[in-house]
Amino acid sequence: MKIGIVGGSFDPIHYGHIQMAKTALEQCDCQEVWFMPTQDTPLKDRSLTESRHRVAMIEKVLAMDTRFKLCLKEVQRQGKSYTIDTLRELKQEYPDDAFVWMIGNDQLAQFDQWKEVDQLVQLADFVCVDRDGALIQTKYPVQRIHMPMMPVSSSEIRKGNKLNYVPEAVLAYIYANRLYIKDFVKERVDEKRYRHSVSVANLCEEMALANGLDGQKAYLIGLFHDIAKRLPLEEMEKWMDAICPEHKHYAPPVWHGFVGSEIVDRIFYLQDPEIKAAIYHHVLGTSENPYAMIVFCADKTDPLRDYDSTKEIALCKKDIKAGFQWIKEENEKYLRKEK
Ligand SMILES: [Fe+2]
Ligand SMILES: [Fe+2]
Repeated sequence: MKIGIVGGSFDPIHYGHIQMAKTALEQCDCQEVWFMPTQDTPLKDRSLTESRHRVAMIEKVLAMDTRFKLCLKEVQRQGKSYTIDTLRELKQEYPDDAFVWMIGNDQLAQFDQWKEVDQLVQLADFVCVDRDGALIQTKYPVQRIHMPMMPVSSSEIRKGNKLNYVPEAVLAYIYANRLYIKDFVKERVDEKRYRHSVSVANLCEEMALANGLDGQKAYLIGLFHDIAKRLPLEEMEKWMDAICPEHKHYAPPVWHGFVGSEIVDRIFYLQDPEIKAAIYHHVLGTSENPYAMIVFCADKTDPLRDYDSTKEIALCKKDIKAGFQWIKEENEKYLRKEK
């Protein structure tokens, strides 16, 4: 059998990897393609997400094609993953099969640094999928295949960009396990707002659980509630014109709730109507949906704010409706005074 190998850290797996796997099947005559997550990549210095998560995300993708398989050889071997060690093991275990090792341009650029590269090219066929058209020279026998551009990388996804390049089931896993998502927020707000967002997320979760509600949903609402807070005014205005021009009469600091609810849907693919509505109403406290009340209260009573909110928090945990009414009244009194 001819087996294609797509190796990588898969942190996380995305459609670029999947397209590479399909190329192995369709253009290299492979009968199967194996995703081979690395334990620790020698030429990268970033520490990777735990392998159990990276593996679980690949497993979500296997359902897309029966010829997709997972090979845990590198993950199970401790220490750095060298391709030469893996290929030697594979050849020993599967002496009658041929292996086609798929690489990208970025890997080809470093190919002469791979361990024992001269032996390596004897053990498998190497195929470079040329994604960006930049022809990298190499003295090694590497076959080239051109593939339509898939302009995405795992590092962009870890920052919350191009999430449409992540299969739906993988994205659901990312949210459910809270992988990368704090960075989605950190990339878009300042340090103080980021700390506030995480603190509100934790408080939302506590309040939800204490009231018998979904802690995870509340956590996500809290984490993303101020996602639009730092958008430049002109950009905010464009969003407002597109989504709710009728609310433009509110002062611009109020707008980030409306805009944020659209951003979580369109950019972060959090399409749960309760998540959207809670963020939409969080500034003015204009909804009595339990999650909307929770984020309104958690935002106002965030322990990072400089007043003692212990009593308010305790009441919200006991009874969110009562806590919401109290905090809303206090907030209105405060706003009248400020005016
Ligand atoms: Fe806010
Ligand atoms: Fe806030």
